[in-house]
Amino acid sequence: MHKAVCPGSFDPVTNGHLDIVARAARVFDEVVVAVLVNEAKRGLFSVDERVGMLAEAVSDFDNVEVATFEGLLVDFCRDRHAVAVVKGLRSGGDFDYEVQMAQMNERLSGVQTVFIPASPALSFVASSLVKEVARFGGDVSGLVPSYVLEPLRRRLSEQP
Ligand code: PNS
Repeated sequence: MHKAVCPGSFDPVTNGHLDIVARAARVFDEVVVAVLVNEAKRGLFSVDERVGMLAEAVSDFDNVEVATFEGLLVDFCRDRHAVAVVKGLRSGGDFDYEVQMAQMNERLSGVQTVFIPASPALSFVASSLVKEVARFGGDVSGLVPSYVLEPLRRRLSEQP
């Protein structure tokens, strides 16, 4: 039984994230989507809100669950008996950032990182960009699950 962890901030989940999770679920027996709890970095959505949106997004998969983690990713992987971390790669910029973390995580615990290339149709999608576009009234439908659109619009309108 091979289990993988897909970690991230997911603030909020995008269709790019879901594409990677769906493909990871075809390769691994079990996938844990792990939301980082970072007290130092407040997101647009609370961790509970992010988990709720992710849980809805993965409800059709019988081998995907959503969890939260604090501290080091390698400790979470060890606790969950995960053999791999799965990350999506959109660009060379992602690679430069991700390969460093992959090498550090390998050194810390031996956990392997598996990179899945983003689908070309989604390779420009990032939570940060989605929030910026939505903040100024741009159309982000098709980039996030439909049930994220309304909470996103509402939360951004509440902000000063
Ligand atoms: O979606 P993000 O913000 O790019 O995800 C980054 C994340 C959560 C995967 C990364 O910051 C992480 O693994 N944080 C946990 C703390 C940790 O293990 N840091 C050392 C990484 S080598």
